[in-house]
Formats: sequence, structure tokens, C-alpha cells
Amino acid sequence: MRVLGINAIFHDPAAALVVDGGVVAAAEEERFSRRKHGKRPVPFAAWELPELSAAWCLASAGIDVDSLDAVAYSFDPGLYRDAVELGLDDPWDWLRVDYATRAPQFLAAALPGLDPEKVRFVPHHVAHAASAGLAAPPAGDDTAVLVLDGRGEVASHLAGVYRDGRLSSLYAQQLPHSLGLLYEDLTRHLGFLHSSDEYKVMALASYGRPTHLGMLRELVRVTDDGGFQVERIDWAGMAKARTADGELTDDHADLAASVQARLEEVVLGLSRWLYDAAGGASTLALAGGVALNCVANARLAAEGPFRDVWVQPAAGDAGTALGAALHVAGELGDRSTPMAGADLGRGWSDEELEAELRRAALPYRRPASIAAEAARVLADNGIVAWYQGRSEYGPRALGHRSLLAHPGDPDTTRRMNDVKGREQFRPIAPMVRAERFAELFEGVFPSPYMLFVHRVKAQWRDRIPAVTHVDGTARVQTVHADTEPLVAELLSEFERRTGLPVVVNTSLNTAGRPMVDTPREAMELFGSAPVDLLALGPFAVHRRALGGGR
Ligand SMILES: [Fe+2]
Repeated sequence: MRVLGINAIFHDPAAALVVDGGVVAAAEEERFSRRKHGKRPVPFAAWELPELSAAWCLASAGIDVDSLDAVAYSFDPGLYRDAVELGLDDPWDWLRVDYATRAPQFLAAALPGLDPEKVRFVPHHVAHAASAGLAAPPAGDDTAVLVLDGRGEVASHLAGVYRDGRLSSLYAQQLPHSLGLLYEDLTRHLGFLHSSDEYKVMALASYGRPTHLGMLRELVRVTDDGGFQVERIDWAGMAKARTADGELTDDHADLAASVQARLEEVVLGLSRWLYDAAGGASTLALAGGVALNCVANARLAAEGPFRDVWVQPAAGDAGTALGAALHVAGELGDRSTPMAGADLGRGWSDEELEAELRRAALPYRRPASIAAEAARVLADNGIVAWYQGRSEYGPRALGHRSLLAHPGDPDTTRRMNDVKGREQFRPIAPMVRAERFAELFEGVFPSPYMLFVHRVKAQWRDRIPAVTHVDGTARVQTVHADTEPLVAELLSEFERRTGLPVVVNTSLNTAGRPMVDTPREAMELFGSAPVDLLALGPFAVHRRALGGGR
């Protein structure tokens, strides 16, 4: 079966193509439209479809629109209830359901040749659940799933279990109670962009003390039916509202630390209930925007009842395109195959990359090993724009569209945040060869998608200061030679030169822009930021060949 998945309803529009139960292409619309998160997270933007990513998914697989068996849309307007009835304060919310209802016709206009009758609505949290439970590596037994989200049609969470590829839903917390909306409210109160900057709040939390935890335990409670209750919260009573350019104070950090701590406790509580209710599943698969909270994920893995915790790399709404498609493929009789990696987006052949370099008249070379060439520049404390293979699905750069640097220089964090125009409290993360992980770090292994924080072992903290956060943790990506041979080679070459098996890996973009997707965008970034080497596929462009750099 050929199923195209579409996420368009709330934010992070994306498309995914599932053929015979396996994903062959998936991408977020922002990588094509060059608008961060694809669109504004407001009801009147619900009409915007992932037209470019959907068309690319089909073209890349050589599939015509009329040969699709179904299109899966990750929201079911038939489940919707009025915002007032749901307890939500959103006068335009009805627009969403209106647009969703008409999505089949809109999709038929966006994808000429599509029969609107082929569009199937998939409940939002079923799509999230499928993106976790059906895409996770085989567990050997049932897979429990927890969707921790802002909101779907009428709920904010889903606890369930996959048995033989079929989801049994065990509990869904109804709106307005929502951990995702709680965190979004906090994000807004702290002067950041909600539905976008929640990860900044998580980073800020590590600078604060959970001084309001006692009060939050009363306001945010786990219930004994597997759900939770969130009371109205007087944010201003705990810390003054901050404007986007206002000063960040200790009060803000303490509030962030308090909510973060309570979130972790609640997620642990939900997982304990699910472990009992799911009856013997040893693996928990997570999705939903809150599942991008890698501090909470790490705590869940360390203290929760499940043996293994797996997080969908596109845990936010972008991942519902994949989940919806997997779910419908299952309904049509296909058995789903787990995803092998997050590199599901666009890629270019060596010939195409070389043609782009020629067109730009850049002085490039083809070294014997691009990995060794990049390692040499990194060892010399240079910054490398690393553009290899297909782009990643989800918010993390995982060695395909990455900006790399030396982890041993304490000044690397400042330089990288300057290149990217980010706040200085933002940590940068390490990639490490899987074989060397245990020597340096404690925590979840493997961690190929960078969705958990790990403790840096004491003897290593001073050796890799750039990636060791103030609280002694690092958000590690483990690199496995069988799936990422080129990145593994780069790490080996860097270690041979420096004795450090770790390289700084952050996303290849500049402030406020989506990650680089095309070779031309990679060259534009290289031309406008103090990057010493552009490693574009097997080709090397050195800044010093242009009269600067190392
Ligand atoms: Fe969602």
C-alpha cells in the first residue's frame, strides 16, 4: 500500500510517505518553504498544507498521486468539540475544524490528480502514538505508548499499548488539562515563543532552583485513572512576566526549574500507571511535543518502570505525518517496519553537489577522506559545516545537516552560539562513538536521536567543557558505525588527533531559520558565517582558500 501522511493542523506541517508499511520519505515543510516551523501556530493558519514536502515525498519515490492508496490526515474533525466546551480560551478555534473538514478538497487542489475520497482522518493522538509504537525498533513483546502533547481534538494525552501492530487506548486525558499547554503557557510567560521555544525553557530550568515545586504539586496532580489535572496557575505570582527582549532573572530560572521538576514527576506518575495497565510491556515509546523534553525523558528512563524508553525523533507534530500514514497502512493490512534512521529527507548525488559548487564558482577539492579532512580542521579548533546524505526528519541535526566544533575549548559554546545568533545559556551537544559512550557518559544507551540528557563522568567534565552543561549533563548522540559510518570515521579521526572521542554537534542553521536543506543553502550559510570548512558530501571548501579562516 502507498500512503501519504499529512500534518497541517496545529504546527510544524510535514509530509511522509509509507510504502508497504515502511517509511521511504518524510520531511517538514519548513525545510522547503524556509519559514521556521512552517507557519504560525494559530487557528487561521490551519489551511496551510505541506504542499512542497508532500510533492517531494511522491516525486522522490517516483509515485504518482493517482496511484496512492490513501492520504492520512493527522486530525479528525469528527471528534472535535467547541473550544468553550473544552475549556479553551480560543475564539478562532472553530476555524481549525472548518479547515480540517475541507482538507480533502484542499489536498486535491494542492496535489492535482488526488481523489479527495482517498483522504482519511486519523485522530491526532493516534497519529502521535503510531509514530512511536509502530516506528520504534521491535521490542520483543508489546510496546506501551505515551503521547504527551499540547492538544489534539479533545484530549492532550494518550496512554496505550500496541499488541501485534494494533493500538489499545487505555486512557486519554481530556482538555483543558494539558502538560503541553502548561509548558507553552510558561514559555509565553517567560517571553519566548510558544509552540517553538519550549526547549529554551528546559535549558533555563537547569540554572534555577525548584522553589515553587510545593505549590505546583497542588496545582498539577496525577489522578488514579491514568490522567492528570492542571488547575489555573497564577504565573505572575511566581515570577514577573518577561518580554521577548527583557532581562532573564533568577526568578524566571526558578520558575522554569519548578515547572520542569513537576513535569518530570507527573510524567513518571503517568508511566507507572501505564506500566501496570499495559500488563507486562517492557518498552515504552514516547511521542508528542512534550516528548522532546530530553531532561524529563532521561528521568523517565532512569527512574520509571520500563526497561527501555524509545522516543520518536520527530516527536512533535511533524511526526504525526508519519504516524498517520503508518496507522492507515496498518488499517489497510500492511505490517509496519520500524524506522531505521531519521535521515528521511532530501539528498543529492555527488555529481549534483559538484555541479552546485561549480555553479557557485567556489574553490573546492575532493580529499581522499572528507571525514579526515573535517577532523583535521576541528582538531585545529575550526568550525565545520557538515552536509552529508539525506536531511533529518525532526528538530535535531544528527550528522547530516550539522555544525561541528571542538568540545575541548570552553570558548566553543560562545563561538557556536554567536555563529547561530542564539542565547548564551543554550547548551551545545556532543556526538560520541557508540563504543566510547560508557567511558564518558552515564544514562540511556543507545541514544542515536539526541533525546535524552546524560551525566558526564567527573573525570571527563574538564576535558569536554564545551558540551558539559552547568548541571554536569550533556545531551548525547551516540554514533553507530553500521548506520552512520562516515560520522563514525570523523569521530575516530578526531580522537586520533586529539584523544577526545567527542565532537560538538549542533544544527546547521543560523538564528530563526530552519535547518539547511539544499546544497545552495549550505553554501549561503558558509558564505555568511565564520565557518572554516564546508564539507559538502565528499567535497571540501576551505575558508582559507577564500582568504580567511584556518
Ligand atoms: Fe500534537
